[in-house]
Parts: sequence; structure tokens; C-alpha cells
Amino acid sequence: MSRSRKADRESPACYALVHAGLESVAADEITRDLGGEVKKAEKGVVVFRVPEVGPELLRLRTIEDVFLMGWGTDSLTYRAEDLKSMRHWTAKDADWKHLLSLHHAIRPKPKAKPSYRLVTQMGGSHAYRRVDASKSLSQGLAGVFPDSWKPGEENATVEIWLTIRGRQAVCGLRLSDKTMRHRPYKVEHLPASLRPTMAAAMVRLAGAAPGDILLDPMCGAGTILAEQIELSKTRKAGRVETWGGDREMSMLRAANSNLHRVGPAMLCHWDARRLPLARESVDRIVCNPPFGKQLASPEEIGPLYRAALKECHRVLRMGGRAVFLVSEPDVLREAIKPLHWKATREMEVEVLGQPAMIGVWQKPE
Ligand SMILES: C[S@@+](CC[C@H](N)C(=O)[O-])C[C@H]1O[C@@H](n2cnc3c(N)ncnc32)[C@H](O)[C@@H]1O
Repeated sequence: MSRSRKADRESPACYALVHAGLESVAADEITRDLGGEVKKAEKGVVVFRVPEVGPELLRLRTIEDVFLMGWGTDSLTYRAEDLKSMRHWTAKDADWKHLLSLHHAIRPKPKAKPSYRLVTQMGGSHAYRRVDASKSLSQGLAGVFPDSWKPGEENATVEIWLTIRGRQAVCGLRLSDKTMRHRPYKVEHLPASLRPTMAAAMVRLAGAAPGDILLDPMCGAGTILAEQIELSKTRKAGRVETWGGDREMSMLRAANSNLHRVGPAMLCHWDARRLPLARESVDRIVCNPPFGKQLASPEEIGPLYRAALKECHRVLRMGGRAVFLVSEPDVLREAIKPLHWKATREMEVEVLGQPAMIGVWQKPE
């Protein structure tokens, strides 16, 4: 990414912060669902332009946050001189007035006194601290907000974020709020529950078509099923039937509460090693089975995956697709080997601070 000059009046660049590893899925969503043009997708940032900046940006499901770009660079030096550059770019390169007017068109100003919040995130070994970068941001923004605007914290009217990751930095006006990543439907949060953006990415990778049946045999709080239902709604292309189950009643109760706000799903109390389903009855399987460390005895993971995968093979139709998220990919690959499924994609991600993998497989025709 080269440092962007003043944004084009019609359509300024935007960027999305995404869960590391999901950049390509987010880029696909922006391109296909919004008609956007992606300029760059790496290190948890997707830079893009859309034909028109509007509220549909807030309906993206695989990203954590979306911003109007003030400036961006991929040539930080790690040295203290970056601070001066960042102050300068903030003051001179960004057309904050224009960006603020676009922001207000999407998120109208409240009647109460407006407030603003500056957020600085920093990763990497730089010769300056986050607080120094934050000061540069604040200095660069001198005069941007009228005196009547007060600095605020949570729920400020506008937020300007500076995100530094190694040599890369992006600075922009946040369009989203916390409801983008924390979905309103998710009233029941369980410790092992999947991030909705990750579940949305898995569902996209599964690519179920209208009329298909999608199964999550270990559905926990139902995040994957909820994201499939929401995706079908945004596409208005006809429903994908969602089936899920879990062996824990507490999980099923949580799934029931969450899905109640989203739409219909068939939920069942079952053991994924013996599913009460007919052979070849589902088109897609999307699941994040327990990680080894979530089990009472982590060594049970091998037998559990082998038995559950054998059962998935029985119920998945020929040519059907399966998407799994696991933290022990070798154990999963070992369980899949005798089934002769074809691996079509593998992506490294991080879940609860530990490395994990999302894999996509196809059952032969
Ligand atoms: C990592 S959690 C799934 C989280 C879920 N995707 C969510 O977003 O809430 C794994 C789930 O597998 C369930 N589970 C473990 N062994 C199972 C089995 N043999 N049959 C069915 N469910 C099982 C657990 O009860 C747990 O809810």
C-alpha cells in the first residue's frame, strides 16, 4: 500500500480490520456482495473502494470493523521519525471534513453534544511507544473537531483509529460500532463459542445454495447456524435449511435463545458420533469441534474426531462440502484420510490466542 493522497471526493478508500487469516474471505465478501475493488488484503487489514459509501458497508459479516480511510502507509521505519510523519499525514493527507460528512450521512449526529474518541493500536517493535503514536495522532487532528465537541470514551459520536502493525499503518474514521462484531442476536455467550465473524467466514467458505441443508453436528451456542441464516437473508436468494445439535443440554438452550432472534433452525440433542440422520441427507457440514484442551482428557480428541468424521461422511451427500475449524489439524487430517475427501483450502487463523486452522474438504462425487 503506498501512502494515499487526498481521498477522491466521490468514493474515498475504505478499510476493514479483520481477524488475521480471514483477509481473503473478507476481500471476497467486499468484492462479490458490495461490488467493491480490493487494493490490498494482508496483516488483518483489507483496503478497498466501493462504488458508493453507504449503510451496506455496515452489513459486511466477515469483518470486525470498517473505516473511511484518512491515510495509510506500508513504509514505517520503526524509528522515532515515524511520529513526525504520522502527525503530518494526519494533518495534511486526510480530508477529515469530507469523511465526517460521509460518516454523518450514515450515522446521523445525536441531538446531545457530540463527542469524539481517538484509538491507537500498535503491534511490532518500534522505537516509540503507543502513547507517543497516540500523541502524534492527536496533534495531527488539531482543529478538526469544533471546540464544542468533547473528548469521549465508549459510544462517542465519532472515533478516529490509528492501527500500526509493523511497517504498516492505517488511520481512519470508524463507521462501524461494536454491534458489527458482537451480533445483537448473541445473547448467550459461552466460553468456547465462536466469534461470529469467524463463523460467517466458515459459512461463506461452505457456499451452501438455496434449498441446501447445512449441518453443524456440534453446534454449541449456534453461531454457525445463525450466521448461515443471516447470510441467506442478506442474499434474499431463498433459504438454506439449518440443522444442528449438541450433546450438552446447556449448549442447546443457549443455541435456542440465540437462534430465536434470527430464524428457524432444527436443533437436536444428540451425540455427533451417532447422528439420527439418514445417509447422504445433508449438503454442507460446518463445525468447530472441541479443541483438545477443552476436553476433560485431551487425548480423547483422536477417537472423538475419528468417530464424528466417520458419521459426517455417512450423512454428507456425494460432492458435498465440509468446513472445520480445529486447533489440532493433524488429528483432523488423520481422521479424514480414510474417507478420501479432497482438501480444497486451508487457512491459518488464531482462536482464543492459539493457532488454529480452517479447512475445506469435498466428498467425492
Ligand atoms: C467449540 S464448541 C462449538 C462452539 C460453537 N460453534 C459456538 O459458536 O458456540 C464444541 C461443542 O461440541 C460439543 N460436543 C463435544 N462432543 C460432542 C459430541 N460427541 N456430540 C455432540 N456434541 C459434542 C460441545 O458440547 C461443544 O458445545
